[in-house]
Amino acid sequence: MNLTIIGCGYVGLVTGVCLAELGHIVTCVDHNAEKIAMLSLGKSPIYEPGLDALMEKNMSAGRLRFTLNLAQAVSEADVVMIAVGTPPDAANKGKADLSAVFKAAQSIAPALRAHTVVVTKSTVPVGTGKQIKSIIERTNPQSTCDVASNPEFLREGSAIADFMSPDRIVIGVERDAAAHILADLYHPLTNQGFALLRTDLETAEMIKYASNSFLATKIAFINEMADICEQVGANVEQVAKGMGMDARIGEKFLQPGPGFGGSCFPKDAMALAQLAHENNVEPAILNSVIHYNLGRRASMAARVMDACAGSVQGKNIAVLGLTFKANTDDMRESASLAIIPALMAAGVHIHTYDPQGMANAKELLKGDIIWSASALDALTKADACVIVTEWQEFRELDWAHAREQMHQPLIIDLRNLFAPDDMAKLGFDYYSIGRKPALRQAVQNKTISAA
Ligand code: UDX
Repeated sequence: MNLTIIGCGYVGLVTGVCLAELGHIVTCVDHNAEKIAMLSLGKSPIYEPGLDALMEKNMSAGRLRFTLNLAQAVSEADVVMIAVGTPPDAANKGKADLSAVFKAAQSIAPALRAHTVVVTKSTVPVGTGKQIKSIIERTNPQSTCDVASNPEFLREGSAIADFMSPDRIVIGVERDAAAHILADLYHPLTNQGFALLRTDLETAEMIKYASNSFLATKIAFINEMADICEQVGANVEQVAKGMGMDARIGEKFLQPGPGFGGSCFPKDAMALAQLAHENNVEPAILNSVIHYNLGRRASMAARVMDACAGSVQGKNIAVLGLTFKANTDDMRESASLAIIPALMAAGVHIHTYDPQGMANAKELLKGDIIWSASALDALTKADACVIVTEWQEFRELDWAHAREQMHQPLIIDLRNLFAPDDMAKLGFDYYSIGRKPALRQAVQNKTISAA
């Protein structure tokens, strides 16, 4: 089939490349000329493991191309996917900003040819699909398109695997005709046995928000269990293991950390809470997850200060990891954006390194920061080390050698990369999350009281 994707970001680009890999003819459209120029040369503007190779393969096979010309690309398509950003609107209590989605719908409408399915891939509030349909009908009354919702469940860093082996494909449609076209689009996956769930538009939109908000809740829950474990001397990793052996709970997404970040969980939880509120449902659980998570991220710097016996003025601290999680270059809502400014305000000299995130981080973190060339560089002469992101290369570092280079053998590991006993044997004062030795109670999570 001929597919056009509007928006070449983390979602649109991965979706386009993967659908080309499945055999479709894909045209990816963006309004950013620099990005399109880079993509046309086979260079990906984002870091996603395996994406460059798959792009190159499908461009060479003539199944994948990039263009600024939206009208031309839409006129040739059986399916048009809207995959533009829907960032939180800070001025509107975190409500999703749909301006790019509506602008895309307005641009698509005049170029539509007979019977195209216009699919919303972007994460949008329930009811947006219907709004897109009315925009298209108002802009081009002759159009005979169907609209559909097809939310993505891609994790950055494993997006290609998540696309090619989905737990489920969700399509929200109003008519059978649209369902048949989307079933054809995903046939290369369903004929491998992957499940496709058909719902109406609103239900598909809600599945996405509810899924992300539940995953965020699960992470907030294990983080709160970690806080309790630290005070009662239990081991949260073992608690998570014991919980996860219950099939109703499941072992995934029970890894404690500094609080969830990324472009989705914080945004989607806030958007869903706002949607509930607008529909006279008080989202008590969602609000507590959002506030808890913000409070947790904000409390991490205090943990570091406490581990340094309260005084960090003038100290050199190595911050290993800047991105919101490993295997991405994405800095959105990363815990490092809360930790580093707080430590700098307390007089800390920051030496930081991240395998992929440095360029993006430099746009967001200002001030007198030493951008180290390696983890070992950042650790040299450091009075303490904070591990913020779980990069494999930090696990594989020669920590015995690093101990010799550090000024003080102090590690605050916010991702539990190591076993406390192993680090103690190497001579480190090693603090982590939800395990002994715990930092004193005073710095435990101070959640922002629910507004
Ligand atoms: C998420 C959803 O997983 C994905 O299905 C959706 O399509 C987009 O949003 P992503 O944000 O890319 O994907 O990454 P994810 O792996 O879910 O991590 C989100 C945040 O939660 C990160 O900050 C991560 O460090 C944190 N996390 C995740 C934990 O703290 N503990 C966990 O066990 C898992």
